[in-house]
Amino acid sequence: MNHTRCDHTPAWGQLQAHYQSQGQAFDLRDAFAKNPQRFDQLSQSAPHVFADLSKNRLDMETEALLLQLAQQCGLEAHRDAMFSGQSINRTEHRSVGHVWLRNLPFPQMGQAQAAIKTVANEIAGQADIHTTLDAMLAYAEQVRADAAITDVVNIGIGGSDLGPQMAVLAVQAFAGAGKRLHFVSNVDGHELAGVLQGLRAANTLFLIASKTFTTVETMTNARSAKAWFMAQGGTNTARHFAALTTNVVGARDFGITTTFGFWDWVGGRYSVWSAIGLPVAIAIGAQGFRQFLAGAHAMDEHFRTAPLAQNLPVRLGLLDVWYRNFHGFTSRSIAPYHSALKRLPAYLQQLEMESNGKRVDALGQPLPFATAPVLWGEPGTNGQHAYFQMLHQGSDVVPVEFIAVKQARHSLVGHQPMLLANALAQAQALMLGQADPDTGGEGHRRFPGNRPSTFLLLDDLTPASLGALIALHEHRVFVSGSIWGINSFDQWGVELGKVLAKDVEARLHSGDATGLDVSTAGLLARLRA
Ligand code: F6P
Repeated sequence: MNHTRCDHTPAWGQLQAHYQSQGQAFDLRDAFAKNPQRFDQLSQSAPHVFADLSKNRLDMETEALLLQLAQQCGLEAHRDAMFSGQSINRTEHRSVGHVWLRNLPFPQMGQAQAAIKTVANEIAGQADIHTTLDAMLAYAEQVRADAAITDVVNIGIGGSDLGPQMAVLAVQAFAGAGKRLHFVSNVDGHELAGVLQGLRAANTLFLIASKTFTTVETMTNARSAKAWFMAQGGTNTARHFAALTTNVVGARDFGITTTFGFWDWVGGRYSVWSAIGLPVAIAIGAQGFRQFLAGAHAMDEHFRTAPLAQNLPVRLGLLDVWYRNFHGFTSRSIAPYHSALKRLPAYLQQLEMESNGKRVDALGQPLPFATAPVLWGEPGTNGQHAYFQMLHQGSDVVPVEFIAVKQARHSLVGHQPMLLANALAQAQALMLGQADPDTGGEGHRRFPGNRPSTFLLLDDLTPASLGALIALHEHRVFVSGSIWGINSFDQWGVELGKVLAKDVEARLHSGDATGLDVSTAGLLARLRA
């Protein structure tokens, strides 16, 4: 499909002029003082998520121009192309179909939804999405009912680790008893050795999670796990090993016969909705997993059908473009005020930085503007006692994304109001600032304020609201990637390091430093000494 380069549109020029005339000097305190409707105008509900964008450096005029940018760049056509199965992942000649995995057959399914399901099933070919899901969930229930299995070890990396690990932790309040879930990703043997130390082969189920079933870290860990299992006297690999992969042949060659497949049109970082989500299904059961999918689907429908001006992923993605390309902000900090969302920043890091960390457009032409920001963060209130100093008084402006949950699922007195008050107060302090009390102006104790933040609020952290929250971020990344005209669904930038690692590993064994740069050769010599 044709794409108009965003910086060649009239709206881009208008946004540049708008930034010069108003955006640069925009002051949040003045904006609130001048416009009592600001909160109403710049906040909205979407499925399971309420979002307050009003503490950001933008106004209705900025949003109107950003929406024009989206229209002029063909965002809606690009979005529809994804939902309808066009090969928008051009470099890999693939459709992008993670949204189809959560398009469950609801009784009240409308015509548009039914059409999407048909496309998905055509592209999936013989493999029926729902049959595959049913088989995976039946297996999850079987494992849950199997009292002999006390420990489940997921071996995978990147999307085959971050999604399930983040989600299992996030929905721990809904998890059944009797199963410990472990996640091993790093090829650093300390990780696997540490997990295996406390396990018994007879009580352990290994899930080998890899879309490709070729990733060297995962294969190395899987081989070591199998060797450990055999050394412990284990024989029944069909019962104690399952593979989650698109490469069924690779899994069989490895000696695994229990396999749950998915399809090449599910990107690794978008795969928690597929068989890669099995640890989540084991934790919360088939019904819980279906709720997780349904929450994401509700957000898909919002993204697919809501007018752009009330479309939350669109508004957030456009805000990201405004900050990155006009304000020049280089990072965004994620501050989940819920300890069960501890792994969310790492998950979002892969989602955004592997999707949009690219310097060429979808046709391979270099882009003259900045793309993905750095994403980073820690749960609140921990971050407040570590790096928030820099957010309040540092020389860079870092937009912060607060994620808070209204209901607590514990009964400890006083904690939840204190936690929520801290989230609100940090957003307030970043925006309001304060003069130095000694000087009345500059000084060590001055907070400049006017520091932007977005506040996302969930009523409760449930499988459904988690699904919606993740889908919101997936679509927001789609929006900024689409405006920038990049392919958000490939990841060529990870390849060079993989190739060089093989070469360096051989040299570590042989000592051959021929042709190496002196730094690498020097380090190699020290490691071999
Ligand atoms: O190397 C990057 C990457 O391909 C990610 O995109 C992916 O999530 C991860 O490696 C793991 O890949 P696989 O699931 O094929 O083992």
